[in-house]
Amino acid sequence: MKQNIHFSGIDPELPPPAEEPDRQLYFAAKCRQWADAFTKRCGRRPTACIRTFGCQMNSRDSEKLLGVLKQIGYEETDDEQADFVLYNTCTVRENANKRVYGRLGYLNAAKKKKPDMIIALCGCMMQEAQVVEKIRSSYRFVDIVFGTHNIFQLAELLWRRLSEGKMVVDVWEGTDRIVEDLPAERKYPFKSGVNIMFGCNNFCSYCIVPYVRGRERSRRPEDIIAEVRRLAADGVAEVMLLGQNVNSYGKTLDTPVTFAELLKQVDAVEGIKRIRFMTSHPKDLSDELIEVMASSSKICRHLHLPVQSGSSRILKQMNRHYTKEQYLELVERIRRAIPDISLTTDIIVGFPGETEEDFLETMDVVERVRYDSAFTFIYSKRTGTPAAEMPGQVPENVVKDRFDRLLRRVQEISSEVCGRDVHTVQKVLAEEPDDHLAGYLTGRMDNNTIVHFPGDESLIGSIVDVYLEESRGFYYMGKLAESRDE
Ligand code: 5AD
Ligand code: SF4
Repeated sequence: MKQNIHFSGIDPELPPPAEEPDRQLYFAAKCRQWADAFTKRCGRRPTACIRTFGCQMNSRDSEKLLGVLKQIGYEETDDEQADFVLYNTCTVRENANKRVYGRLGYLNAAKKKKPDMIIALCGCMMQEAQVVEKIRSSYRFVDIVFGTHNIFQLAELLWRRLSEGKMVVDVWEGTDRIVEDLPAERKYPFKSGVNIMFGCNNFCSYCIVPYVRGRERSRRPEDIIAEVRRLAADGVAEVMLLGQNVNSYGKTLDTPVTFAELLKQVDAVEGIKRIRFMTSHPKDLSDELIEVMASSSKICRHLHLPVQSGSSRILKQMNRHYTKEQYLELVERIRRAIPDISLTTDIIVGFPGETEEDFLETMDVVERVRYDSAFTFIYSKRTGTPAAEMPGQVPENVVKDRFDRLLRRVQEISSEVCGRDVHTVQKVLAEEPDDHLAGYLTGRMDNNTIVHFPGDESLIGSIVDVYLEESRGFYYMGKLAESRDE
């Protein structure tokens, strides 16, 4: 969505307004004057590169950040030698942090050759006090540091850096506000993420998200629907509703609304052809939601339902609020109502105290559910979470062995399950030119499976009928069938 800022009504010479989003528009106008002067001086517009780590929430945040930068006058680039480089970081596992520190080394070298470069860091990792301390002391070349709660302040923080000339650090501990109506720049013209809520209240014992993303806050349904309508008017066919636990959407609103009710409202928006959502916590998945999914032709036949572990004992330690049996019963209920649903999951191996028996329970769930795909993770100790203090951290070699066994089985099952639609015609959203085959497109089925098929780039963004000729494990090769949806 491109909402143009009307700079004409803003006087950058006046003091800044106190209200949002006007305040940010004011600072964007100030930065814009700077960008115009840069363009005049250098004969080109300043360039900006955003690197996104982590989940779809971060991807959506990056679209908003890019929207602001473009309004300021930056030109987007994929090159980290840009005039403005922003890392939107993740901290869900230790590896994510290590990658950021590693890459900062390269940025330091680039900045030595180009001293006017502005380097900014934001996102989940910046919400950790020890990370910010380390950056202040050992990464002095970083210019701007902000967190997850104030991404809407990018223009203001950039202006401060430009006018003060020293490192700007502004990380909020928490927030209860949601700033609406800032510009966003979509990666794909035909599909978009839509935040429906922020934060998480679940405190799974291994997870750092509630600490870095704060308490759960739902957007008002009318704001969400207005955004979805704007997106549809702008040519968007598919929306992905985003939240850490969409099934608890709306509980904290002044007038509570269930997620199923919200889905019905989104379903009614004309022009939207596909609705996806992420992520569902099994403990809050209602029968009402299953019914709405079963009766809608727009809601995709895909549910990401993280199980995390198959051992009821470990699930209790994880603070997940369901047992293995309850999870399996839920899967059965979903499959009874929506037989062709594709199920995916997240699994953690090596949670503190996990025994071989516990692990075999996880393998058993995998055998019974037969997921379309599963993201498997090695438990990563996050300082400040209850699990980090738990006894019985599992030795690395044991975890690695379990992880390999799990991954092998998950992949075998996945390649068997994913091929079930071979030799049928399916609706596919054509998304992009194929990376490997000239003249081919890559698209996605309703259940999220990838399909490669010969086709013209003009089809990108539309839903087409594709005959699935061959299953290749995790994806299909296909060809266009006769009729087209649009
Ligand atoms: N270690 C390993 N995996 C984790 N996840 C969250 N926290 C951790 C951790 N400390 C996984 C969960 C979650 C996914 C987004 O990341 O499986 O569903
Ligand atoms: Fe983390 Fe659990 Fe919240 Fe998901 S539901 S973000 S795993 S605390």
